[in-house]
Parts: sequence; C-alpha cells; structure tokens
Amino acid sequence: MSKIAIIGSGIAGLFSAIKLANSNHEVVIITKQRIKDSSTNWAQGGIAGILDKTNSNGKSAHIADTLQSGDGLCDETVVREVIEHAADCINELVNIGVQFERDHEGGFKLAKEGGHSERRILHAKDATGREIERALSDSAKQHQNITLMKNTLAVDLIQREHGDPSKGVCGVWCYDQSTKQVVTLAADAVIIATGGVGQLWAKTTNPSVATGDGIAMAFRCGAAVKDMAFIQFHPTALSIEDGRPFLITEALRGEGGVILDEIGINSWRAECKQRLTSNLPPPNPEKYSFTRKFSDLGSMATRDIVARAIDENLKQTGNKQAYLITSHLDKAMLQTSFPNIQAHLDKYGLSLGLDDLPISPAAHYIVGGLDVDKYGRPRTAMKDGIIPHLYAIGEVACTGMHGANRLASNSLLEAVVFADKAANHIVSNPPNSISHQLPQWRADGLAALNEHAPIVNDLTMLKDTMSSEVGIVRNNLRLNRALRRIKLLDKEIDIIWKSSTPSRDIVELRNLILVANLVIEDAINRTENRGLHYNTDLV
Ligand code: FAD
Ligand code: SIN
Repeated sequence: MSKIAIIGSGIAGLFSAIKLANSNHEVVIITKQRIKDSSTNWAQGGIAGILDKTNSNGKSAHIADTLQSGDGLCDETVVREVIEHAADCINELVNIGVQFERDHEGGFKLAKEGGHSERRILHAKDATGREIERALSDSAKQHQNITLMKNTLAVDLIQREHGDPSKGVCGVWCYDQSTKQVVTLAADAVIIATGGVGQLWAKTTNPSVATGDGIAMAFRCGAAVKDMAFIQFHPTALSIEDGRPFLITEALRGEGGVILDEIGINSWRAECKQRLTSNLPPPNPEKYSFTRKFSDLGSMATRDIVARAIDENLKQTGNKQAYLITSHLDKAMLQTSFPNIQAHLDKYGLSLGLDDLPISPAAHYIVGGLDVDKYGRPRTAMKDGIIPHLYAIGEVACTGMHGANRLASNSLLEAVVFADKAANHIVSNPPNSISHQLPQWRADGLAALNEHAPIVNDLTMLKDTMSSEVGIVRNNLRLNRALRRIKLLDKEIDIIWKSSTPSRDIVELRNLILVANLVIEDAINRTENRGLHYNTDLV
C-alpha cells in the first residue's frame, strides 16, 4: 500500500483520490480552504461527452469541434483519447452519485455552448460543478483510505534529492492555517490538482483559491511549463459595480441568449416595434450582434472570438459593458433551467427573460500549465524526461487537449479523464517507498511578518498590471512594461520570503508573481497570433 498525497479537492483531486483509495492506496488530500472551495464547485454549463460508445459520428463531431476551437494547436491523439474515454469516466461519476439532469424518458438532457455543433453537454441545471463536488466529496469523506486535511496550504514539494528533478518527489511541505506551522508530509507519490490562476487578474470568474500554486511549486522543482500565454477570458461575466464577476453560463447563449451593445439593442427594439404594428413576431436579436463582425456564428462563436469582439467593442465605444439579451426567450424555461443564475441576479433586481444583463469578459481558465505526458506526469524543464512520482491533473496541467483555446465544457472532461489516467498509472506502477528521514522546513532565524501592507499593495500592483497590460488584446510595449514591473515585484517578494515565516498571503503572492512571469514571458516569445493569444504587433 503506497501513500499518495493529493493537493486539491476539485474534480481532478477528488476523482483520483477515490480511484486510488478503491485500489487500497492510502490517500491524503490537502486542500487550502474548505473542501468545496474550488473552480469545480462553481462550474455551471456542464461536462461535454458522448455517452453512447457506438455513436462514432457524435464522437467525431466532438473531436472536430475541439480541434477547431484549439486553432490548430491541439494534440489530436490526446483529443481522441479523452473523447473516447468520456463515456467510461462520466459513467463512473454517475456511479459515484453525480446526478445529471434527465429528460422524461430517463435519458440525459443535453445542452449546447459556444463552438459546439451539437447538444452534448451533461449538466445539473446551471450548477453542474456543485453537484459533481457534492457527490465526489461525500464519497471521499466516507472512504476509510482517504484522510482530508482542510485549511492546509501546500507550500513546496519535497524532492528525493534536492535540486535533482530526475530523482522525483517524496512529499509536501504544508502550512497548517490553524496552527500557523509548516508540517512535513511524506508521500510515495504526489498528485498536483491545484486548479487555475484566475487571481492574477482583478476581474476573474475564479474562486480565491485559484492562485497558481501547483504550477509554481512544480516549476521550482524543475518542471516544464507550456502555453502559459493562452489565458481564456469568459465573455459573459456579470458586470456590476461592486459585485464580483459572477459567471453567466454560455449555456444561456446555447438556449438563444444574444450579446448586443447599446446600438444593437436600440436597433433591435426599433424593429420589434415596427413589426408589432404589422402583427409580425419580433426578429431574432442575433442579427444586430456586433459579434457577427468577428464570426458568422456571432454570439455562439468560440470564446476567444467572442471575448475579443467584446473587448474591441468596449474599447471603441468607451462603454464599460455589453449586454446579454434574453427577453425574446421563454421566461419560464429560463428560470427553470438557470435557477442558480436567477438567484444571483435577484440580488440586483434583474430577471432572466426580461432584463438586459450587463456583461464583460473576465479571466476564466488557463489553457497552458505544467507540461505533462499521457499519464499526467510533468516533464522536466530540460525536456530530458519526467519527474518521477509526481503527477499533475486538471486545470494545472497542459495535456494538449485544448490547443490554443479550450472548447466550453471540455475542462471537467479533461480533468476527470486525466485523473483516471494518473490513478491507473499509479496503481499499475506503484511508487517505491522512501526509507530516509525527510528534511524539515527551514525555520532558522525567520520572524513573522509584522507589516502586511506591502503584501496587499504588491498584490494590487500585480493584478492591476496583469489586467491593464496582459489582457485579451496585447502588444509588445505593454507586455514588456508588465515584465519589468513583475521583475520588481519578484525582488520584493524574495526579500520577504527569505526573512519571514510563511503565511498564506506570502505563499500565494510568491506563487502568483512567478506564474505572472511565466505568462508574460510566453506571451512575449510568441511569434504568431493563435486562439487566445492576440498581439496587435503580430497582426
Ligand atoms: P479546482 O476545481 O479549481 O480545484 C483546485 C483545488 O486545489 C481546490 O480545492 C483548491 O483549494 C486547491 N488548492 C489550490 N492551491 C492549493 C494549495 N497550495 N494547497 C492546497 N490546496 C490547494 N469547465 C467545464 O468543463 N464546464 C463548466 O461548466 C465550467 N464552468 C466553470 C465556471 C466557473 C465559474 C469557473 C471558475 C470555471 C468553470 N469551468 C468549467 C472550468 C472548470 O470548472 C475548472 O477548470 C475545473 O473545475 C478545474 O478542476 P481542478 O480539479 O483542476 O481544480
Ligand atoms: C460556462 O458555463 O459558460 C462555462 C463553461 C466552461 O468554462 O467550460
């Protein structure tokens, strides 16, 4: 029986934990806050997949849409493999207890989002992630082979031989937020499932735990990163002053929601009025969408295109937001299908099927990440092999599935399939146990930081820099300015890091600065515009 440490309690961490525990491994899940604090818990639209294994046309169409969305940079072998394994993994989720919505005949109700040519998204109303997280965490909590350490922050990986990635890892140093002590956790293998990096930007759909810790920890241990510049901005985050950028799922557009600016709204309303006088039904507002200048698919184009269309529109008009229009749709249907969103809109006196919803893009998902092989094992930065006994799965990893732009609802799918692959690999190749004593955390001569203002100010500067200089549309001048500022912040955090005992804010800021640097360097080094990377100097 090996001991496996899993960092993160989203879909990737929990699913792999359950699989390993079922195979008699001892599993410890380390998670930063509460178990449910994850992007998984906030996922709305659903999980894409073809459940009927004999439906080869369906699978081919899913593959084609994924490749199209990835703008030529997907690893086709990975795409085929993930889509082929969708049925098995989604069925396992169902067996664990996830209840996806069903129609009257008992079949799954399928939704559609931008870039999908067919309905193929399983969902639980508009709170799919909450249902997945509920079922997985219920199952993990009951499992006798799983120990859950919440409010525990992984700080750094412990290498089997310090400074030599080829020897692999043997544990994690963790910061216990209740005792404020760093503890040494020994493990035969470590799975990083720490999710994304949305907290690099001032406006993000991500929860507060998304600070890129896993990427930073593995990078410091000699892991390679890939495609870090491909940051997906979700086009439709609610844009209300003082409110967080709450996601309005793309599935709403799948049901007919349309993105318009004020000019489009006025023109559409004028035509509605005119047609009313002739007793004609109102026209589809889509014909007035400015997004049609960017793609014939208009509001239903892939996310990179729609987000860029909105970004350009806001810059040209000087407006702070565009609008998601649903008043031409059946209000009762919308309110039944999207109760989670309606409950949030209630706080602002807004109604689906009635009001124009103010929206603007917000940082949503990192397509790049730790460069992993087909079992989720991170490659070394020198590209001379993998880091033994280490795995990275879920959003933290770059598998090649998403290319230059992820297709909607393919993230939960990729996460569950790679969680399955990593767990199976560990089961068939059990890691050799470590026999020696692990090094303790360096605590010599460090004092607790007594002034936190510099951390807060530096975090604000980091977020401001990423938001203004490393957004949807980039240019060389802005990227280089951002890099200079980040290098400055890097020096500052290094001084604090070397002289203070860790705290959550110090650990996170140190990681965010490192990840920001990786994002910007990749953006500067890119020589062409693809998918989510758009530099006006390359046009
Ligand atoms: P997460 O679910 O983010 O979990 C990461 C875990 O790691 C958390 O438990 C966190 O606390 C923990 N953690 C992080 N750092 C540390 C540390 N240092 N120490 C200890 N623990 C740590 N994708 C889809 O496919 N379909 C959707 O409908 C969809 N909707 C979305 C809606 C929203 C609002 C958001 C934000 C994302 C959405 N996505 C969707 C993307 C998808 O939810 C995520 O990519 C996916 O859930 C990532 O799963 P994960 O297990 O890799 O990470
Ligand atoms: C959404 O529901 O719009 C988000 C889906 C995703 O990020 O894949």
